[in-house]
Amino acid sequence: DYIRLLRGLVGLEEEMTQALHLKRVIILPGDSEADSAVQRELGRVTAGVVGQCLGDNMTIAVSGGSTMASVAEAVNFSAPSTTVVPARGGLGEKVEYQANTIAAVMAGKLGGRYRLLHIPDGVSEEALEVILADDANVRVVAEIIRQADILVHGIGQAAEMAKQRGLSANIVDELVRRGAVGEALGQYYTIEGNIVYVTSSIGLHLDDLAGIRTVIAVAGGGKKAQAIMAVASTGSHDVLITDEAAARAIQQII
Ligand code: F6P
Repeated sequence: DYIRLLRGLVGLEEEMTQALHLKRVIILPGDSEADSAVQRELGRVTAGVVGQCLGDNMTIAVSGGSTMASVAEAVNFSAPSTTVVPARGGLGEKVEYQANTIAAVMAGKLGGRYRLLHIPDGVSEEALEVILADDANVRVVAEIIRQADILVHGIGQAAEMAKQRGLSANIVDELVRRGAVGEALGQYYTIEGNIVYVTSSIGLHLDDLAGIRTVIAVAGGGKKAQAIMAVASTGSHDVLITDEAAARAIQQII
């Protein structure tokens, strides 16, 4: 902790907590984009925060992504009454980084249970309705997700995530034109936290987050500064865990 004090990160945590209307901001020294040890540290600290929030028989919803993969890997305590679920459908990414995989890895580390969602992101609303009508298991898991006690999710840059998800060039251009800079849970936001576009899938949307006791976001790297601000500005988060590179870039904006 004295390294964080020395580098002025503790003061910056307070500044960001107020500016972004969060309950808690944790800034780790370094740049997770350039240094994988810092990304592992983001994972370790986030896993610790999850542990502090966990009580008996709780459900944790998790997103996908490489940062969340390091959170799941870092869990080193047991909580066998916990259920872990993916926050949304979202097959199609690299399997290690899919929310389903991260839920299963985290549940394994906790000695708890997991439930999975086998629904791709971005299927049409009509197809979703058919799946929901037809598949009782999907309905049950969707309900468990909506009643999660803790949500932990990553944040990405809007244009980059849109391309990675295979959205058409027209939609990507439209997103950028309308000011989308950040993405989380398949939703794209402006820096003020206004929603610009939503990928259809089953699972959590922004409207559902108010019912979740603890919403934790984890993301680092200077390139994600605007994206982090965008998602934090939605006002639905409690805790942000980030790194010095992102925090210093955010400090220039706030
Ligand atoms: O695709 C799932 C997701 O959580 C996105 O919502 C987010 O933008 C991205 O992963 C973050 O991934 P990474 O941590 O690899 O940058």
